[in-house]
Amino acid sequence: MRVALLILLGLVIGVIGTANVMSALNARNPMPKAVMTTMGYHMGALDHALKSKQCAAASIQQHLARLQSTATDIVPVFGTHEKGFTDEATQLQNRLQLAVQAAPADCAALAVALKPVGDTCKSCHQKYRS
Ligand code: HEC
Repeated sequence: MRVALLILLGLVIGVIGTANVMSALNARNPMPKAVMTTMGYHMGALDHALKSKQCAAASIQQHLARLQSTATDIVPVFGTHEKGFTDEATQLQNRLQLAVQAAPADCAALAVALKPVGDTCKSCHQKYRS
């Protein structure tokens, strides 16, 4: 009886320990969320520019450039090579490159440049965001 209890106790401690290690590992890699939060911030700023109809070319361009460079971090920090996922990330980079090259100088041009970018955010989230 005592032995059985000790074995049970050992199992419980093991399970709790494993759960703790898993959450510690997650906490130690804040990068996937950090990259997404950064992109969310820049998309939010562009969205706000559109809604408030204040689309200064220089500030738009800076947010687009920050999105473009941040998007290159997605695959390395998520650490997955699943093709569907890396394809979405590549498409995002390509579309951001086009948006940066388009250098939108007013709200109408920004809306056109941003649409395919937003579509890619959405499509990857639908597939891979739990
Ligand atoms: C290649 C796939 C992919 C693309 C493209 C992508 N995301 Fe994400 N995003 C994810 C995944 C997966 C999560 C969930 C991450 C998690 O919970 O750890 C996420 C989560 C987020 C979050 C929530 C972060 C949090 O605090 O939980 C924001 C904000 C976000 N993405 C913004 C964006 C924006 C803006 C774009 C487009 C410019 C974008 N994402 C493009 C895969 C992607």
